[in-house]
Amino acid sequence: MNAGIIGLGKYVPEKVVTNFDLEKVLDTNDEWIRTRTGIQERRIAGDDVDTSDMAYEAAKEALENAGITPDQVGLILVGTITPDRSFPSVACQIQEKLGASNAAAMDLSAACSGFIYALATAKLYVESGNYDYVLIVGAEKLSKITNWEDRNTAVLFGDGASAAVVGKVSEGRGILAFELGADGTGGKHLYTDEENFIFMNGREVFKFAVRQMGATALSVLEKAGLTKEDVDYLVPHQANIRIMEAARERLELPEEKLSKRIHQYGNTSSSSIGLALKDEFDAGKIQDDDIIVLVGFGGGLTWGGAVIKWGK
Ligand code: ACO
Repeated sequence: MNAGIIGLGKYVPEKVVTNFDLEKVLDTNDEWIRTRTGIQERRIAGDDVDTSDMAYEAAKEALENAGITPDQVGLILVGTITPDRSFPSVACQIQEKLGASNAAAMDLSAACSGFIYALATAKLYVESGNYDYVLIVGAEKLSKITNWEDRNTAVLFGDGASAAVVGKVSEGRGILAFELGADGTGGKHLYTDEENFIFMNGREVFKFAVRQMGATALSVLEKAGLTKEDVDYLVPHQANIRIMEAARERLELPEEKLSKRIHQYGNTSSSSIGLALKDEFDAGKIQDDDIIVLVGFGGGLTWGGAVIKWGK
Protein backbone atom coordinates (compact mmCIF):
# COMPACT_ATOMS: atom_id res chain seq x y z
CA MET A 1 0.00 0.00 0.00
CA ASN A 2 1.32 3.45 -0.94
CA ALA A 3 0.71 6.76 0.75
CA GLY A 4 0.31 9.89 -1.32
CA ILE A 5 -1.03 13.43 -1.28
CA ILE A 6 -4.82 13.42 -1.57
CA GLY A 7 -5.57 17.09 -0.83
CA LEU A 8 -3.80 20.46 -0.81
CA GLY A 9 -4.46 23.82 0.83
CA LYS A 10 -2.76 27.16 1.28
CA TYR A 11 -3.10 30.55 2.92
CA VAL A 12 -1.16 33.73 2.31
CA PRO A 13 -1.81 37.08 4.02
CA GLU A 14 -3.44 39.79 1.89
CA LYS A 15 -0.78 42.44 2.48
CA VAL A 16 1.73 42.57 -0.39
CA VAL A 17 5.13 44.18 0.25
CA THR A 18 6.98 44.86 -3.00
CA ASN A 19 10.69 45.43 -3.54
CA PHE A 20 9.80 49.07 -4.20
CA ASP A 21 8.21 49.27 -0.73
CA LEU A 22 11.47 47.96 0.77
CA GLU A 23 13.52 50.50 -1.22
CA LYS A 24 11.83 53.20 0.86
CA VAL A 25 12.98 51.79 4.20
CA LEU A 26 16.25 49.98 3.42
CA ASP A 27 19.46 50.62 1.50
CA THR A 28 18.43 48.25 -1.30
CA ASN A 29 16.71 48.34 -4.68
CA ASP A 30 14.35 46.30 -6.82
CA GLU A 31 17.01 45.50 -9.41
CA TRP A 32 19.41 44.00 -6.81
CA ILE A 33 16.70 41.91 -5.18
CA ARG A 34 15.25 40.63 -8.48
CA THR A 35 18.55 39.71 -10.10
CA ARG A 36 20.16 38.18 -6.97
CA THR A 37 17.10 36.32 -5.67
CA GLY A 38 14.18 36.35 -8.16
CA ILE A 39 11.89 37.91 -5.55
CA GLN A 40 9.53 40.72 -6.59
CA GLU A 41 7.10 40.78 -3.68
CA ARG A 42 6.19 38.89 -0.51
CA ARG A 43 3.13 38.61 1.75
CA ILE A 44 3.36 39.90 5.30
CA ALA A 45 0.87 39.03 8.04
CA GLY A 46 -0.62 41.74 10.25
CA ASP A 47 -0.28 41.89 14.05
CA ASP A 48 -3.61 40.11 14.45
CA VAL A 49 -2.51 37.04 12.44
CA ASP A 50 -0.04 34.52 13.85
CA THR A 51 1.38 31.27 12.48
CA SER A 52 -1.47 29.12 13.84
CA ASP A 53 -4.09 31.30 12.10
CA MET A 54 -2.41 30.78 8.73
CA ALA A 55 -1.85 27.08 9.47
CA TYR A 56 -5.54 26.66 10.28
CA GLU A 57 -6.73 28.26 7.03
CA ALA A 58 -4.39 26.11 4.91
CA ALA A 59 -5.31 22.95 6.84
CA LYS A 60 -9.05 23.58 6.49
CA GLU A 61 -8.69 23.92 2.73
CA ALA A 62 -6.57 20.76 2.46
CA LEU A 63 -9.17 18.70 4.35
CA GLU A 64 -11.99 20.02 2.15
CA ASN A 65 -9.89 19.36 -0.94
CA ALA A 66 -9.23 15.77 0.22
CA GLY A 67 -12.92 15.27 0.94
CA ILE A 68 -12.42 14.14 4.53
CA THR A 69 -13.74 15.46 7.82
CA PRO A 70 -11.49 16.68 10.68
CA ASP A 71 -12.44 13.72 12.89
CA GLN A 72 -10.91 11.31 10.36
CA VAL A 73 -7.42 12.77 10.83
CA GLY A 74 -5.14 10.53 12.92
CA LEU A 75 -2.12 12.82 13.20
CA ILE A 76 -1.36 16.49 12.62
CA LEU A 77 2.25 17.45 11.88
CA VAL A 78 3.15 21.13 11.59
CA GLY A 79 6.56 22.13 10.23
CA THR A 80 7.40 25.56 11.64
CA ILE A 81 10.27 27.60 13.07
CA THR A 82 7.93 30.44 14.03
CA PRO A 83 5.29 28.89 16.34
CA ASP A 84 2.97 31.31 18.16
CA ARG A 85 4.74 30.26 21.39
CA SER A 86 6.96 27.38 22.52
CA PHE A 87 3.86 25.45 23.63
CA PRO A 88 1.13 24.46 23.06
CA SER A 89 2.27 23.48 19.59
CA VAL A 90 0.72 25.00 16.49
CA ALA A 91 -0.45 21.44 15.73
CA CYS A 92 -2.45 21.37 18.99
CA GLN A 93 -3.83 24.85 18.35
CA ILE A 94 -5.17 23.88 14.94
CA GLN A 95 -6.38 20.52 16.23
CA GLU A 96 -8.74 22.48 18.49
CA LYS A 97 -9.79 24.98 15.80
CA LEU A 98 -10.45 22.26 13.24
CA GLY A 99 -12.23 20.01 15.73
CA ALA A 100 -9.87 17.17 14.78
CA SER A 101 -10.53 15.50 18.12
CA ASN A 102 -9.15 12.07 17.16
CA ALA A 103 -5.77 13.39 16.04
CA ALA A 104 -2.44 13.27 17.81
CA ALA A 105 -0.59 16.53 17.19
CA MET A 106 2.97 17.79 17.18
CA ASP A 107 5.24 20.40 15.62
CA LEU A 108 8.41 19.60 13.76
CA SER A 109 11.39 21.92 13.43
CA ALA A 110 13.50 21.47 10.30
CA ALA A 111 13.40 25.05 8.96
CA CYS A 112 12.86 25.17 5.19
CA SER A 113 13.00 21.37 4.95
CA GLY A 114 9.98 21.16 7.27
CA PHE A 115 7.44 20.31 4.58
CA ILE A 116 9.50 17.38 3.30
CA TYR A 117 10.33 16.13 6.80
CA ALA A 118 6.59 16.17 7.59
CA LEU A 119 5.70 14.49 4.29
CA ALA A 120 8.21 11.66 4.87
CA THR A 121 6.95 11.14 8.43
CA ALA A 122 3.34 11.09 7.25
CA LYS A 123 4.13 8.51 4.56
CA LEU A 124 5.59 6.12 7.16
CA TYR A 125 2.65 6.52 9.56
CA VAL A 126 0.12 5.85 6.79
CA GLU A 127 1.98 2.95 5.18
CA SER A 128 2.54 1.29 8.57
CA GLY A 129 -1.24 1.27 9.04
CA ASN A 130 -1.10 3.44 12.17
CA TYR A 131 -3.20 6.26 10.71
CA ASP A 132 -5.51 6.47 7.70
CA TYR A 133 -4.97 10.19 7.25
CA VAL A 134 -2.13 12.49 8.33
CA LEU A 135 -2.52 16.25 7.95
CA ILE A 136 0.78 18.00 7.28
CA VAL A 137 1.21 21.76 7.41
CA GLY A 138 4.13 24.12 6.76
CA ALA A 139 3.40 27.50 8.34
CA GLU A 140 5.61 30.49 9.01
CA LYS A 141 5.32 34.05 10.19
CA LEU A 142 8.94 34.83 9.37
CA SER A 143 8.24 38.57 9.55
CA LYS A 144 8.34 38.31 13.36
CA ILE A 145 11.92 36.96 13.39
CA THR A 146 13.15 39.24 10.59
CA ASN A 147 15.34 42.21 11.46
CA TRP A 148 13.75 44.83 9.20
CA GLU A 149 16.91 46.93 9.41
CA ASP A 150 19.17 44.19 8.00
CA ARG A 151 19.11 44.30 4.21
CA ASN A 152 20.99 40.98 4.02
CA THR A 153 17.94 39.12 5.27
CA ALA A 154 14.91 41.45 5.28
CA VAL A 155 14.45 41.30 1.51
CA LEU A 156 14.34 37.49 1.41
CA PHE A 157 11.45 36.30 3.55
CA GLY A 158 7.66 36.20 3.51
CA ASP A 159 4.75 34.77 5.52
CA GLY A 160 2.36 32.00 4.53
CA ALA A 161 1.12 28.45 5.08
CA SER A 162 0.50 25.34 3.04
CA ALA A 163 -1.04 21.99 3.91
CA ALA A 164 -1.52 18.52 2.49
CA VAL A 165 -3.49 15.44 3.49
CA VAL A 166 -1.54 12.22 3.16
CA GLY A 167 -3.59 9.05 2.77
CA LYS A 168 -3.73 5.77 0.86
CA VAL A 169 -3.54 6.00 -2.93
CA SER A 170 -3.86 3.45 -5.71
CA GLU A 171 -1.15 0.96 -6.62
CA GLY A 172 1.92 2.53 -8.22
CA ARG A 173 1.02 6.09 -7.22
CA GLY A 174 2.05 8.12 -4.19
CA ILE A 175 5.31 9.02 -2.46
CA LEU A 176 7.71 6.57 -4.12
CA ALA A 177 10.81 7.55 -2.14
CA PHE A 178 12.18 10.18 0.19
CA GLU A 179 15.52 11.21 1.59
CA LEU A 180 16.19 13.33 4.66
CA GLY A 181 19.50 14.68 5.90
CA ALA A 182 21.11 17.03 8.40
CA ASP A 183 24.51 18.51 9.16
CA GLY A 184 24.56 20.20 12.54
CA THR A 185 28.08 21.47 11.94
CA GLY A 186 26.54 23.96 9.48
CA GLY A 187 24.17 25.38 12.10
CA LYS A 188 26.51 28.36 12.53
CA HIS A 189 25.64 29.63 9.05
CA LEU A 190 21.91 30.13 9.65
CA TYR A 191 20.27 30.66 13.04
CA THR A 192 18.29 33.01 15.24
CA ASP A 193 20.50 35.37 17.25
CA GLU A 194 20.11 36.65 20.85
CA GLU A 195 17.38 39.02 19.70
CA ASN A 196 15.60 36.14 17.95
CA PHE A 197 16.33 37.59 14.51
CA ILE A 198 17.45 35.47 11.57
CA PHE A 199 21.23 35.55 11.06
CA MET A 200 22.51 34.16 7.79
CA ASN A 201 25.87 33.72 6.14
CA GLY A 202 24.33 34.04 2.67
CA ARG A 203 27.33 32.91 0.65
CA GLU A 204 27.92 29.75 2.72
CA VAL A 205 24.22 28.84 2.63
CA PHE A 206 24.16 29.50 -1.11
CA LYS A 207 27.08 27.13 -1.78
CA PHE A 208 25.61 24.43 0.44
CA ALA A 209 22.17 24.77 -1.17
CA VAL A 210 23.44 24.54 -4.74
CA ARG A 211 25.48 21.43 -3.91
CA GLN A 212 22.84 19.70 -1.78
CA MET A 213 19.68 20.35 -3.83
CA GLY A 214 21.12 18.70 -6.94
CA ALA A 215 22.67 15.81 -5.02
CA THR A 216 19.49 15.07 -3.07
CA ALA A 217 17.28 15.27 -6.17
CA LEU A 218 19.45 12.74 -8.00
CA SER A 219 19.78 10.45 -5.02
CA VAL A 220 16.05 10.34 -4.23
CA LEU A 221 15.29 9.57 -7.88
CA GLU A 222 17.68 6.64 -7.70
CA LYS A 223 15.94 5.42 -4.54
CA ALA A 224 12.66 5.50 -6.47
CA GLY A 225 14.25 3.42 -9.26
CA LEU A 226 13.95 6.36 -11.67
CA THR A 227 16.30 8.64 -13.61
CA LYS A 228 16.28 12.34 -14.44
CA GLU A 229 14.67 11.55 -17.80
CA ASP A 230 11.55 10.37 -15.93
CA VAL A 231 10.94 13.72 -14.18
CA ASP A 232 7.86 15.67 -15.28
CA TYR A 233 8.11 18.52 -12.80
CA LEU A 234 10.53 19.86 -10.17
CA VAL A 235 9.19 21.73 -7.15
CA PRO A 236 12.18 23.00 -5.15
CA HIS A 237 12.23 25.07 -1.98
CA GLN A 238 11.73 28.66 -3.16
CA ALA A 239 14.71 30.42 -1.54
CA ASN A 240 16.59 31.92 -4.46
CA ILE A 241 15.95 31.59 -8.21
CA ARG A 242 19.66 30.93 -8.85
CA ILE A 243 19.67 27.98 -6.42
CA MET A 244 16.46 26.64 -8.00
CA GLU A 245 17.90 26.99 -11.52
CA ALA A 246 21.04 25.12 -10.43
CA ALA A 247 18.89 22.18 -9.28
CA ARG A 248 17.01 22.25 -12.60
CA GLU A 249 20.29 22.16 -14.49
CA ARG A 250 21.57 19.19 -12.43
CA LEU A 251 18.44 17.30 -13.54
CA GLU A 252 18.85 18.60 -17.13
CA LEU A 253 15.23 19.73 -17.18
CA PRO A 254 13.82 22.34 -19.54
CA GLU A 255 12.74 25.69 -18.08
CA GLU A 256 9.03 24.83 -18.15
CA LYS A 257 9.51 21.87 -15.79
CA LEU A 258 10.63 24.06 -12.89
CA SER A 259 8.14 25.53 -10.43
CA LYS A 260 8.92 29.22 -9.98
CA ARG A 261 6.78 30.99 -7.40
CA ILE A 262 9.49 32.82 -5.51
CA HIS A 263 8.69 36.14 -7.26
CA GLN A 264 5.28 36.19 -5.55
CA TYR A 265 6.07 35.03 -2.02
CA GLY A 266 9.82 35.22 -1.33
CA ASN A 267 11.17 32.51 0.95
CA THR A 268 8.39 31.20 3.21
CA SER A 269 10.57 28.46 4.78
CA SER A 270 8.62 25.28 5.64
CA SER A 271 5.58 26.60 3.78
CA SER A 272 7.31 27.19 0.44
CA ILE A 273 7.26 23.75 -1.23
CA GLY A 274 3.60 23.16 -0.34
CA LEU A 275 2.63 26.64 -1.55
CA ALA A 276 4.37 26.06 -4.89
CA LEU A 277 2.85 22.58 -5.23
CA LYS A 278 -0.66 23.92 -4.63
CA ASP A 279 -0.23 26.81 -7.08
CA GLU A 280 1.18 24.52 -9.79
CA PHE A 281 -1.58 21.98 -9.26
CA ASP A 282 -4.23 24.71 -9.50
CA ALA A 283 -2.53 26.02 -12.67
CA GLY A 284 -2.85 22.57 -14.28
CA LYS A 285 0.91 21.97 -14.38
CA ILE A 286 0.66 18.72 -12.41
CA GLN A 287 -1.37 15.85 -13.84
CA ASP A 288 -2.17 12.32 -12.69
CA ASP A 289 0.78 9.92 -13.07
CA ASP A 290 3.31 12.73 -13.45
CA ILE A 291 6.63 12.15 -11.67
CA ILE A 292 7.19 15.10 -9.34
CA VAL A 293 10.44 15.78 -7.49
CA LEU A 294 10.29 17.89 -4.33
CA VAL A 295 13.59 19.06 -2.88
CA GLY A 296 14.51 21.50 -0.13
CA PHE A 297 17.20 22.68 2.26
CA GLY A 298 17.25 24.90 5.30
CA GLY A 299 18.65 25.93 8.64
CA GLY A 300 20.05 23.14 10.78
CA LEU A 301 21.45 22.57 8.29
CA THR A 302 18.80 20.21 6.94
CA TRP A 303 17.73 18.91 3.57
CA GLY A 304 15.18 16.56 2.07
CA GLY A 305 13.77 15.26 -1.16
CA ALA A 306 10.77 13.20 -2.25
CA VAL A 307 9.58 11.62 -5.49
CA ILE A 308 5.83 11.43 -6.02
CA LYS A 309 3.86 9.71 -8.73
CA TRP A 310 0.92 12.08 -8.65
CA GLY A 311 -2.71 11.06 -8.22
CA LYS A 312 -5.01 9.30 -5.78
N1 ACO B 1 20.36 45.15 -1.38
C1 ACO B 1 21.48 45.64 -1.94
N2 ACO B 1 22.70 45.14 -1.69
C2 ACO B 1 22.78 44.09 -0.86
C3 ACO B 1 21.64 43.53 -0.25
C4 ACO B 1 20.40 44.11 -0.53
N3 ACO B 1 19.26 43.64 0.00
N4 ACO B 1 22.03 42.50 0.52
C5 ACO B 1 23.37 42.40 0.41
N5 ACO B 1 23.83 43.38 -0.43
C6 ACO B 1 25.20 43.64 -0.83
C7 ACO B 1 26.22 43.02 0.10
O1 ACO B 1 26.44 43.89 1.18
C8 ACO B 1 27.44 42.91 -0.79
O2 ACO B 1 28.07 44.13 -0.85
P1 ACO B 1 29.69 44.22 -0.78
O3 ACO B 1 30.17 43.44 -1.96
O4 ACO B 1 29.94 45.69 -0.84
O5 ACO B 1 30.05 43.58 0.52
C9 ACO B 1 26.83 42.66 -2.17
O6 ACO B 1 25.45 43.03 -2.09
C10 ACO B 1 26.96 41.23 -2.64
O7 ACO B 1 26.63 40.36 -1.59
P2 ACO B 1 26.71 38.80 -1.76
O8 ACO B 1 26.53 38.16 -0.42
O9 ACO B 1 27.89 38.40 -2.59
O10 ACO B 1 25.43 38.53 -2.67
P3 ACO B 1 24.99 37.18 -3.27
O11 ACO B 1 25.04 37.23 -4.73
O12 ACO B 1 25.66 36.01 -2.56
O13 ACO B 1 23.46 37.13 -2.84
C11 ACO B 1 22.01 36.19 -1.20
C12 ACO B 1 23.10 37.19 -1.47
C13 ACO B 1 20.81 36.51 -2.05
C14 ACO B 1 21.63 36.28 0.27
C15 ACO B 1 22.53 34.78 -1.54
O14 ACO B 1 23.77 34.56 -0.94
C16 ACO B 1 21.59 33.69 -1.12
O15 ACO B 1 20.49 33.56 -1.64
N6 ACO B 1 22.00 32.83 -0.19
C17 ACO B 1 21.16 31.74 0.26
C18 ACO B 1 20.08 32.27 1.13
C19 ACO B 1 19.11 31.20 1.52
O16 ACO B 1 18.62 30.48 0.70
N7 ACO B 1 18.84 31.10 2.82
C20 ACO B 1 17.94 30.11 3.29
C21 ACO B 1 17.40 30.65 4.53
S1 ACO B 1 15.98 29.80 4.91
C22 ACO B 1 15.88 29.31 6.52
O17 ACO B 1 16.26 28.21 6.87
C23 ACO B 1 15.25 30.32 7.47
